[in-house]
Amino acid sequence: MNKETIQDIKVSHRRVLVRVDFNVPLDEKGQVITDDSRIKATLPTINYLVDHHARIILCSHLGRPRGRVIEKLRLGIVAQHLSRILGRPVKVARQSIGPEVQKAVAELKEGDILLLENIRFYPEEEQNDTSFAHALASLADIYVNDAFGTSHRTHASVVGVTKYLPSVAGLLLKKEIETLGNLLQNPDHPFGLLLGGAKISDKISMIENTMDKVDYLLIGGGMAATFLKAKSFEIGLSLIEENRLEVATRLIKRTLENGVRLLLPIDVVVADEISPKTAFKVVSILDIPRDKRIVDLGPKTIDNFRQILQKCRTVFWNGPMGIYELPQFAEGTKSIVRVMANLHATTIIGGGSTAEIAVHMGLANRMTFVSTGGGASLKFLGGEVLPGVEALSDKELR
Ligand code: 3PG
Repeated sequence: MNKETIQDIKVSHRRVLVRVDFNVPLDEKGQVITDDSRIKATLPTINYLVDHHARIILCSHLGRPRGRVIEKLRLGIVAQHLSRILGRPVKVARQSIGPEVQKAVAELKEGDILLLENIRFYPEEEQNDTSFAHALASLADIYVNDAFGTSHRTHASVVGVTKYLPSVAGLLLKKEIETLGNLLQNPDHPFGLLLGGAKISDKISMIENTMDKVDYLLIGGGMAATFLKAKSFEIGLSLIEENRLEVATRLIKRTLENGVRLLLPIDVVVADEISPKTAFKVVSILDIPRDKRIVDLGPKTIDNFRQILQKCRTVFWNGPMGIYELPQFAEGTKSIVRVMANLHATTIIGGGSTAEIAVHMGLANRMTFVSTGGGASLKFLGGEVLPGVEALSDKELR
């Protein structure tokens, strides 16, 4: 990575503002963190700073409060959790900027940690407001971005603040950029790209950007219906992105031109509706009834995908294979997690719901790498420059 990291500058005794992505899933009541991977992933950076006697000020968003204070989205619960897994106290502020926060920062001793309140309680955050960014920056001597999952956002705590402080990458950000960057530059072949989820629109640039690198493109989930329709299959009531049919046709053509083998479902589970009590059955894609919708991969497709994935030396996966939220339609997704966990290959899972499923199945640690970025990893692999990374100091310039 051509950006400086915390290992390249002196952090000892300094006040270090660390943007982390503690946007973790909570249970319905907002009282339990249901997947703490994003918190655990920042431990190397936090421990490094503790070991180097920095005064640590953590800053994150949680959810999308859109500039308002939402009690359920306060970061107290995250501070408690972090404190438990770190085995040291984590102080928590009730605001992100202002006199009380300044006082709390002034009281920090070397190795102490303070977590600021949800930064998105302030509308200025998403507006990348200059004075807000300045107020945030005034709390610290150094800025560290360790929030890979938020680095595609041009927000005050991600981009604005870098104007006022020496700004470097944290160890998680470095690892994400290096691991995902290696996928683009130097993947072991065969390289399989496995995509699912509802929408094709957020994955187009990634498919295009990796077209000359992948050997297999496997498509499941809701987005498979758009590809099947583009190939003139009946898809019943499956929801598709009508305005992306042309794109799907173009991508299918490009796979042929580039010698990429495209695998679409050959059988699927169809249901009357998306509800726990609905009737469902497995059908060939030649026989999808007009009054039903696709909700999961069928067993032949799972087997087909398994055989191809077992040939791969590198696999990147993003997006569930069906309506995994309903247990009867989660088999496709769960089977793929099991297959991935047993591959002798570099296995990388893009963040978001795909990562959460692997975590809940207890198999995330069997993958080579699970990215903490959902949208960010798709954008990065789509060839976009992430503004939060771009804003950090270049290695050779300092
Ligand atoms: C994520 O969950 O992908 C990141 O935390 C970014 O959140 P956002 O999509 O609300 O900006």
